[in-house]
Amino acid sequence: MRRSMILATAAVMASGLLLAGCGSDDTPSGSDTASGGSSGGATPKVGVILPDTKSSARWETADAKYLKQAFDAAGVQADIQNAQNDKTNFQTIADGMISSGVKVLMIVNLDSGTGKAVLDKAKAAGIATIDYDRLTLNGGADYYVSFDNVKVGELQGQGLVDCLKAKNLTKPVVAELNGSQTDNNATLFKQGYDSVLKPLYDSGELVKGPDQWVDQWDNAKAGTIFEQMLTENKNIKGVLAANDGLGNAAISILKKNKLNGQVPVTGQDATTQGLQNILVGDQCMTVYKAIKKEADAASVLAIALAKGEKPTTATGVTKDPESGKDVPSVLLVPQSITKANVKDVIADGFVTKEQLCTPDFAKACTDAGIS
Ligand code: BGC
Repeated sequence: MRRSMILATAAVMASGLLLAGCGSDDTPSGSDTASGGSSGGATPKVGVILPDTKSSARWETADAKYLKQAFDAAGVQADIQNAQNDKTNFQTIADGMISSGVKVLMIVNLDSGTGKAVLDKAKAAGIATIDYDRLTLNGGADYYVSFDNVKVGELQGQGLVDCLKAKNLTKPVVAELNGSQTDNNATLFKQGYDSVLKPLYDSGELVKGPDQWVDQWDNAKAGTIFEQMLTENKNIKGVLAANDGLGNAAISILKKNKLNGQVPVTGQDATTQGLQNILVGDQCMTVYKAIKKEADAASVLAIALAKGEKPTTATGVTKDPESGKDVPSVLLVPQSITKANVKDVIADGFVTKEQLCTPDFAKACTDAGIS
């Protein structure tokens, strides 16, 4: 069992960093994409390892795309690969990048152990390192770029409480579907939502129901876990699901039991599926993290490091709870999304109206003021 950990953040950036001149590239991109710089000759090279394609849609549809755009715009070569949730693969990709002479290695770890092994190797080869989105505990990365992840959890907890209140339920039983215990972010999200829920459990306003981690954020496993929770506790009236994938797994089971829409479910990532679940009333809220800002902030750091410059933009600090070291950080601000402000996510360019408002969701879109 891991103790809950507190990341002390000296500064949370209120707004993202936008890389001048980027963002207009409409080249499609996915994982396993090597993107070349625009100029000839030796350009500095950056390696990026993303974790998987199934725990959340974001890694494929957002992170890979926005990172490629940012590096392309700066004329910096980026080798962006996805480890497909395979730790051996993760290490093999890292070895390949290190021997290919990358100047910077940016990783989203699959767990802190393998993450640290890779960061150690990179450092030994004189390569600068960045933890992207997930802090590698005791990993010693040079920089960390993410969101205020405790705040993400607080928004989820408050979102669920608001939805339960709107339903006028007395002493509703709340189930918690946490992310992967191997992901420091999942610990931080839980710390955030439990800080909202626990006082209400203690006062008796809410009743604490089942509470389980979902290994590797595995959406299918989440369905099995939630089905069992519901079989054992038919009275579950609210679900704190740590991201949209886990939320959708719970919603599928609620649908099977004709309970969807009656039991509020939370989420995170503002995935198309999550937003559609919100529009039809099956999901209570999601947390939008502007991944373009995260990718831009990380690429600004990586580009400076690749050029041998000292970055000036990591003005925050995150204390690694295992090593006790302060990691220079950029931490962005997450936003709570309900039916009332789904349009903000469209306005920010994260999802298009066409992607969201397919025929099945056309009416729900109109009802939510998306026209
Ligand atoms: C990320 C979330 C994502 C989850 C599963 C977390 O580390 O912060 O955005 O939903 O991993 O991939």
